[in-house]
Amino acid sequence: MEIVICSTPEEAGEVAAARVAQVVKEAGPRAVLGVATGSSPLALYEGLTRRVEEGTLDLSEASAFALDEYVGLPAGDPNSYAATIDKTVTVPLKMNPANVHVPDGAAEDLKQACEDYEAAIKAAGGVDVQILGIGSNGHIGFNEPSSSLASRTRIKTLNERTREDNARYFASIDDVPRHCLTQGLGTIMDARAVVLVAQGEGKADAVAALAEGPVSTMCPGSILQMHRTVTVVVDEAAASKLKLREYYDVTYEHKPEWQEFDA
Ligand code: F6R
Repeated sequence: MEIVICSTPEEAGEVAAARVAQVVKEAGPRAVLGVATGSSPLALYEGLTRRVEEGTLDLSEASAFALDEYVGLPAGDPNSYAATIDKTVTVPLKMNPANVHVPDGAAEDLKQACEDYEAAIKAAGGVDVQILGIGSNGHIGFNEPSSSLASRTRIKTLNERTREDNARYFASIDDVPRHCLTQGLGTIMDARAVVLVAQGEGKADAVAALAEGPVSTMCPGSILQMHRTVTVVVDEAAASKLKLREYYDVTYEHKPEWQEFDA
């Protein structure tokens, strides 16, 4: 696991964007991105957007698969992850909406929707680079603590801490859905590369458990220790509880080969 500690959240976003852009370029024009919602990847998406606008990155033939979607929100609800991905990924990155996929949390048959989603990822050739945030309880996607480390896309009940964390987007906590569809940990682990971003003190415990704790369902993100190509990009606050911090002191400046791919 490569851990990059940046001085600010903005720098973390830029370093993560550079890493994603590098993998996308290596994968070619039909690259497949795994995309997360939430606040963590927003600076990363801004970094990718800048590259698209400057003409150094072209995602017009690329595809994307979102990690998760709430169950029970009306179609078109602004809090749905379909709407969020459209606003933060599809439109700014000038992607073809037909190539951007989100699990169907409004499907009549949710189990079938999960199977169809797994099949669609497979049919696209698998995910080249999976972008992740991490929940304060260690979840990735909506794989809450106690999730099977081998899980595939399925229906999950949201943990109360996750509902509280996400209540900031809704009028009240009562409006936060109780269920979701989420890619499983096994699905995420199939991605060929992973870039996880975390900022702020509220993520410090989760980041320490992810990188230095035991591999455990109690911190679902810790399964990434079993993946061969993971980059974890954190700011100082999110890195504050890492025991081996000084060993991870790799900054953007020390990685000139990444800058080369920005050109
Ligand atoms: C989002 C997702 C979640 C978030 C996590 C962190 O699609 O799957 O795992 O990445 O809850 O959320 P933020 O970034 O809002 O702190």
